[in-house]
Amino acid sequence: MTRAHLTTHPTTLPATHPATGPTARPDTVVELTGVTKEYPGGVAALRGVDLTVTAGELLAIVGPSGSGKSTLLHIVGTLDRPTAGGVRIAGYDIAALSDRSLSALRSRHVGFVFQSFHLVPGISARANVAEGLLYSGLSRAERLRRAAEALERVGLGDRMDHRPHELSGGQKQRVAIARAVAGAPDLLLADEPTGALDTASGESVMELLRELNRDGATIAVITHDQEIAASLPRQVRIRDGEIVADRSPAGVAS
Ligand SMILES: Nc1ncnc2c1ncn2[C@@H]1O[C@H](COP(=O)(O)OP(=O)(O)OP(=O)(O)O)[C@@H](O)[C@H]1O
Ligand SMILES: [Mg+2]
Repeated sequence: MTRAHLTTHPTTLPATHPATGPTARPDTVVELTGVTKEYPGGVAALRGVDLTVTAGELLAIVGPSGSGKSTLLHIVGTLDRPTAGGVRIAGYDIAALSDRSLSALRSRHVGFVFQSFHLVPGISARANVAEGLLYSGLSRAERLRRAAEALERVGLGDRMDHRPHELSGGQKQRVAIARAVAGAPDLLLADEPTGALDTASGESVMELLRELNRDGATIAVITHDQEIAASLPRQVRIRDGEIVADRSPAGVAS
């Protein structure tokens, strides 16, 4: 994926939520109904996925390699559109939005964290985090102030001026998380956020995500690590493009 997907252009997004369907609840952040994704060449990466995520949830999306996890994240993050089925994110029906409006939706409502960090080389941690606010309409001074605040929040107050190559893997991921949450998105999506980290750094990144969740963030973490998945309040299990289990603490399938 290129950075062009992640940084977006300021565009028009309806100022108020469009009318939500009769079943949509105001605290529903993600609502997928019957989502199918077929890639050119005939691969059916998702086959009839229903998924609802409510504000304040912390869930794992778990499944073997090739099962469709990243495809699901791309659709939930509005980086891609489904072949068929309904997608509603932060109250918006994405089928009704142009690509430009979708970019605006993404920059305002969704934060992304990837296994390989996706930081801009050669610029400071603080500048990297401020980049996440580029299209927020905030002044540069305010963006830098909020970036500093976000870095403090992830425990990197003493590494603001370090460039990516001067940070450890775990610290790079914290910068990426700070960038993703600096704009207070409705939804934080993390694709294998601990995949490039040793066990200890991975655990501390997971602890940071739990902390952010306790502070109210809605977070979906893609992982093929069963232990990480089991440590989160809800596990959505995907296999061959289908959700085969959806468990929360009560053990109730939803
Ligand atoms: N751009 C694409 N074009 C064609 N097929 C694709 C594309 N992206 C993914 N696929 C296929 O779709 C299926 C699901 O891929 P996806 O990347 O979602 O899996 P995943 O669960 O994230 O796997 P991993 O754990 O290895 O990251 C795979 O069979 C893959 O080969
Ligand atoms: Mg993947």
